[in-house]
Amino acid sequence: MNNIKFFLGEEIPLELHKVRVIQKLNLVPIERRLRALEESGYNTFGLSTKDVYLDMLTDSGTNAMSDNQIAAMFQADDAYAGSQSFERLKTAVEDVLGKKFLLPVHQGRAAENVICRAFVKPGDVIPMNYHFTTFLAHVLENKATIAELVYDHAFNFDTYHPFKGNIDIEKLEDTIKKHGVEKIPFIRMEASTNLIGGQPFSISNMMDVRRIADKYGIMVVLDASLLGENAYLVQQREEQWKENTLGEIIKMMTGLADIVYFSARKLSSSRGGGICTNRKELYQGMEALIPLFEGFLTYGGISVREIEAMAVGLYETLDETMISQSPTFIKYFVEELAKHKVPVVTPPGVLGCHVNAMPFCDHIPQSQYPAGALAAAYFLISGVRGMERGTVSSVRDENGVEVLANCELLRLAVPRRVFTLSQIKYAVDRMAWLYENRKLIGGLQFTYEPPVLRFFMGKLAPVSDWSEKLMYKFRQDFGDSL
Ligand code: F0G
Repeated sequence: MNNIKFFLGEEIPLELHKVRVIQKLNLVPIERRLRALEESGYNTFGLSTKDVYLDMLTDSGTNAMSDNQIAAMFQADDAYAGSQSFERLKTAVEDVLGKKFLLPVHQGRAAENVICRAFVKPGDVIPMNYHFTTFLAHVLENKATIAELVYDHAFNFDTYHPFKGNIDIEKLEDTIKKHGVEKIPFIRMEASTNLIGGQPFSISNMMDVRRIADKYGIMVVLDASLLGENAYLVQQREEQWKENTLGEIIKMMTGLADIVYFSARKLSSSRGGGICTNRKELYQGMEALIPLFEGFLTYGGISVREIEAMAVGLYETLDETMISQSPTFIKYFVEELAKHKVPVVTPPGVLGCHVNAMPFCDHIPQSQYPAGALAAAYFLISGVRGMERGTVSSVRDENGVEVLANCELLRLAVPRRVFTLSQIKYAVDRMAWLYENRKLIGGLQFTYEPPVLRFFMGKLAPVSDWSEKLMYKFRQDFGDSL
């Protein structure tokens, strides 16, 4: 994919697939988009897809499936116990992730629930590169806490560091000494660290983490939901691994972990998840929780059809043309926005293009949720739905005091093989316009704030009539354009 040279000079990401099934999209007028935003409580999770033009909310469950995945779904073996579909998935997990014991779960957070119930006790501390929302929620459910140990420069979004998802090894050792080994059930590494802009870790960093884990006798748990893309960026950016295949890099990373878990909605398919290990006693420590929360051990709450798609999808993560598609589109997206001075997370990571709402909306206090406001404003003027990754997505402390997030990002997800380049160009065009008119964006406040995972269900309202003013400006500049 990266070796294609162009005669006219402009380097564009080239699709190495063709479209064979399509879904029609709506681009509704801005007046309808304003109503839709009001109905959603200024929360893009509350929007209906009938009002959304490009759905860049997430890549979770929205990556395009391949013809081979769809074909495999027809040979599924429907059985409560002992399904051959599960056997095929087990083989794929062993071939691709190098782990022989597999527990199927209905999605990634279900794996987090099982792992936390099995290994986390009240008062424990889980060191990690950075949290993911659902993992943190399960840690808190189990009355434990986390320690986030990325390097400080991970939050300098406009500086280049190839592996901003690395754990600071000095901080890791200090954390272990501070809390004591008995309080640390495992160290969690998240591939392509989601909440800080889809930033990868390097293999050499994971080797250092393993060394510290061995020194203190602590387990390493790898969240592999975005492992394929992390492996691709290792191949691109880590000198020693340039000549290795994705398969070799993936096996190297999973080999450094005691337990690997994943959301198959991201890693390999549109549904499902799994936990795998080579250590029988760890498998047995979690086994009983699967029939309790998920389903029997050979389907784990996933339909057998989806299990077939997961198995094929796992093998497809070894295919560079498949895995590189989203990161190359994201790179183009990020670089085009940067040309128009839009503040974006660099270097381009995986999962999506991340717009830095702090400088974009530097006139909005963080207590009025700049990233949430930017997500709402961008949907209003473009019909593109992104996701707030900032203070709305974080949690209040034990005294109910708002904890301002380390960063305020608008994530525009680029699921694998879903959008065309012209759609990305449209998204860039509208974002460049919004940046010129950014001072019209105002803050948000909660009108309904649920105590857990508030970013999903919460409702907000603008602090002034800024969204109407933004709509009038759009009409002035674009006439009757959609
Ligand atoms: N771990 C990571 C790194 C994730 O990105 C996600 C989901 C999960 C675990 C949980 O998996 O959704 O299958 O339960 N990320 C989605 C997102 C929701 O939009 O980033 P799940």
